[in-house]
Amino acid sequence: MSMPKVISLAALLLAGAGAMALAADDGKNGLGARPGLGQPITEADVKPWDITILPDGTNLPPGSGTAAVGAKVFVDKGCNQCHGDGGKGGKNAALVTDEKLQGQGIEANKTIKDFWAYSTTLYDYIRRAMPWPTPHTLSDEDTYNLVAYILAENKLIDANAVMDAKTLPQVKMPNHDNFIVKFPDRI
Ligand code: HEC
Repeated sequence: MSMPKVISLAALLLAGAGAMALAADDGKNGLGARPGLGQPITEADVKPWDITILPDGTNLPPGSGTAAVGAKVFVDKGCNQCHGDGGKGGKNAALVTDEKLQGQGIEANKTIKDFWAYSTTLYDYIRRAMPWPTPHTLSDEDTYNLVAYILAENKLIDANAVMDAKTLPQVKMPNHDNFIVKFPDRI
């Protein structure tokens, strides 16, 4: 029957792989010790990737931004080409809206203003992912300016408000209290 054959082939392969791993480790296989691939990574290597901003603002960098400068950055960096003039929607999502959440559940039109729970997510998302063709190219200052612009256009902050590591986490999003933490004891 074919079944036992399949099993014994798998067992052979596994045994073979185990033997090879041992051989590579003991240095007696004529090929030298471990394969020596890769090298330990340093703090400096990790730093450019350690960019997560937590909801409470932990990890927000120094610097600040305003909507007035952000309006310029929005055009200079080409955000308007996909998100439309003033972020009101174009080929891609509207970043500035005045509608309320419409539709049910997953089908609802979830926009920054009526859905996102934390203002700080905007900072993390933009610096990490935008502009879409060239992510990781915005400076910390660019990002603060863009965040201030999008929040101000959505009327969530004063048009002249300065956004920085202290003020941004204090901006409360309208839908913040409607999120339910399913497993609070795991946080
Ligand atoms: C080439 C097109 C393109 C460019 C340029 C671009 N974006 Fe986006 N953006 C996208 C796509 C695609 C998405 C994700 C899908 C969607 O929400 O439409 C997105 C999503 C976003 C979101 C999340 C929207 C949401 O409601 O989930 C933000 C915020 C954002 N972009 C900001 C920016 C900013 C700021 C810039 C300029 C620095 C920028 N984008 C440039 C295509 C682009």
